[in-house]
Amino acid sequence: MSDFEKLKEELKDKLFKAQNSQEVDIIRTEIFGKNGLINLEFKKLGSLSPEDKKKLASEINRAKQELTKLFNDKAEKLVDVEIDEKVKKEKDDVTLPEKEFRLGKIHPVSQVIDEISSIFSEIGFSVEEGPDVESEYYNFTALNTPENHPAKDMHDTFYIDKNMKTLLRTHTSPVQVRTMLNGKPPFKIIAPGRTYRSDSDQTHTPMFHQLEGLHIDENINMGHLKGCLNYFIKEFFEIDKIKMRFRPSHFPFTEPSAEVDIGYKIQNNKIVIGEGDKWLEILGCGMVHPNVLKNSKVDPNKYQGYAFGIGIDRLAMLKYGINDLRSFFECDYRWLNYYGFDPLDVPTNYRGLSK
Ligand code: DAH
Repeated sequence: MSDFEKLKEELKDKLFKAQNSQEVDIIRTEIFGKNGLINLEFKKLGSLSPEDKKKLASEINRAKQELTKLFNDKAEKLVDVEIDEKVKKEKDDVTLPEKEFRLGKIHPVSQVIDEISSIFSEIGFSVEEGPDVESEYYNFTALNTPENHPAKDMHDTFYIDKNMKTLLRTHTSPVQVRTMLNGKPPFKIIAPGRTYRSDSDQTHTPMFHQLEGLHIDENINMGHLKGCLNYFIKEFFEIDKIKMRFRPSHFPFTEPSAEVDIGYKIQNNKIVIGEGDKWLEILGCGMVHPNVLKNSKVDPNKYQGYAFGIGIDRLAMLKYGINDLRSFFECDYRWLNYYGFDPLDVPTNYRGLSK
């Protein structure tokens, strides 16, 4: 028997006796590695005559085939054995205590956005969105805001660039322009979203939420605006009667403009909406200014309509008795647990799921 044959038999025996995949890996190198049995034998070919070369080469190839097959069979067997052992060890222990399970809560702001969206969608409004980082043009200029308007002041607005061309939108009103530029009238949309102003106290936070409304068609007038808001407020606060008043106001993007107050009273330390002789401002609105329509490529001689902007956080505070606006944004889990909504326990006037 040649040395090669002897070594081969030894390695076959070693392989046969191997107990685990580490041992098999070592044998793999001894057989097929750079300085393993097969390669070393191939190296001998160089010094042989053509005839012997042919003979030895076919011998080595045969040995290589035989060893490869043995090797693969062994490796496969060992993998099966190792998996079996692992599965045996990993048996579930049903006596272990269960993992703690916590159900998340829906933030009051998300809840109120859902409620408002479902109320408006029932009367034909669709939902639009716009970017938080907005251009000065859409946020102010296209909305007919004059160059020297106080809202444009650095103290009020978070500008993103030195040239004051990009900013964090100060209101959701730019979505009006974006929506109109993107489509053809009629438009009947709401746009909820985050808005930003440099302000912070118990009733103001640098980031807050608004909901924009826009209804443009050939014959829309202030009566429609009044009817729409009246319906919305009743549905939102789940009351049959409300006291509502339109107070003349000014916004550059509407003419005429108004602010809407609702009547309320305090009873047993709680706020009761819809009764009493106190007034609370809840939104701004008006008939869309012809310049805004022109900037949005809508013909003001043919189309007109109303717009409104509602402070979402304030509505959430009123409806759910939350006193401090800042707590909305502090990410305190205890607060969310108390004021948040159970995703499976949906309030009665929330119609998003039952539709
Ligand atoms: N954008 C206004 C603000 O942030 C709110 C507003 C007033 C929106 C009148 C409107 C509107 O669409 O018609 O104070």
